[in-house]
Amino acid sequence: MNRRNDSKQAALNEHFYLNSVIATLQGAKLMGKGSGYGKVILFGEHFVVYGLPGIVSAIDASTDAEVTKAVKGLNVRDERKTAKGYSEEKRLQQVESIERMMKAMGIDPKTGLDIWIGGSLPGFSGLGASAASSVAIARAIAQELGMQVSDEKINQVAYEAEKAYAGNPSGIDNTAATYGGLMWFKKDTTGGPDKVEPLHVRRPIEIVIGSTGKVANTKAMVEGVAERKKNNPANYDPIFRQAENLAVAGRKTLEAYDLKKLGELMNENHRLLQQIEVSSKELDALVDLARKQGAFGAKLTGGGGGGCMVALTPGKDLQGKVASAIKNLGFEVLSTKVGVEKY
Ligand code: MEV
Repeated sequence: MNRRNDSKQAALNEHFYLNSVIATLQGAKLMGKGSGYGKVILFGEHFVVYGLPGIVSAIDASTDAEVTKAVKGLNVRDERKTAKGYSEEKRLQQVESIERMMKAMGIDPKTGLDIWIGGSLPGFSGLGASAASSVAIARAIAQELGMQVSDEKINQVAYEAEKAYAGNPSGIDNTAATYGGLMWFKKDTTGGPDKVEPLHVRRPIEIVIGSTGKVANTKAMVEGVAERKKNNPANYDPIFRQAENLAVAGRKTLEAYDLKKLGELMNENHRLLQQIEVSSKELDALVDLARKQGAFGAKLTGGGGGGCMVALTPGKDLQGKVASAIKNLGFEVLSTKVGVEKY
């Protein structure tokens, strides 16, 4: 950070500090608070944008937000642990997303808000960090302004906010960020309600998430797929049909708790994502490494082009082995589980 940014940040910190002191002295309620879950997609990223089914699980990490009314402006203090350059890359999209959110909540755009963002979910591309932050902020704004807002409405508001990050989002990320758990998701491409069904597994399953450290632009990735699909239907249509079959098979396999087969299907899903050109050499390398260390399966997760991969590593031992191998190469790792009912 350069000196100008440093002094800007210092001024912002002081502003937040003074605001909270004033609020304390006035005996006022300090702030509105909210959280949103992070997620991994096990099947169907990108394909879900076109109304094909996907399977997503919330993870044991959330983005938290605190909001207080301010005299003017949107003042965002983002204290999430992030991949290098993440916050800078997303800053403009973040401001647009909050403006979209306020519009969807019917809030006067001139309302001043101080917004703090933090929590345990790292700002790595692919883990639904933007959707988790939108859900957290929407909940915190609602609380601060004394609005009663249902989860359904929060989900809609976060979907509007996601348009700033993803252009044409499917809604899978904001739905997982709002409700948590493991779910089957199918967007209604005619604008009706999406199909969302909670899925249940016998026992939560250990996974390892490896971050390439590369910040990815989901909007550009989604647009790239749309462009190639339009220009090359003969290649893309069969891939899309296979993706649909895979998600259906993935659901059956999860519910039957056949983890070996589940891993194979995830590998297959990664191959389709390579074919639609959303993987990268770093993602492929992490996927290969995880498989060589014994992961039952591995694939990129989220928009691709950087960001994260997820490896299926049932049991603490296998999870530890795969996580160490990735860490030893200098990549960031998150060891967690999918299929936990609610964190
Ligand atoms: C991003 O986590 C998932 C994508 O399919 C975009 C979306 O569904 O909105 C790439």
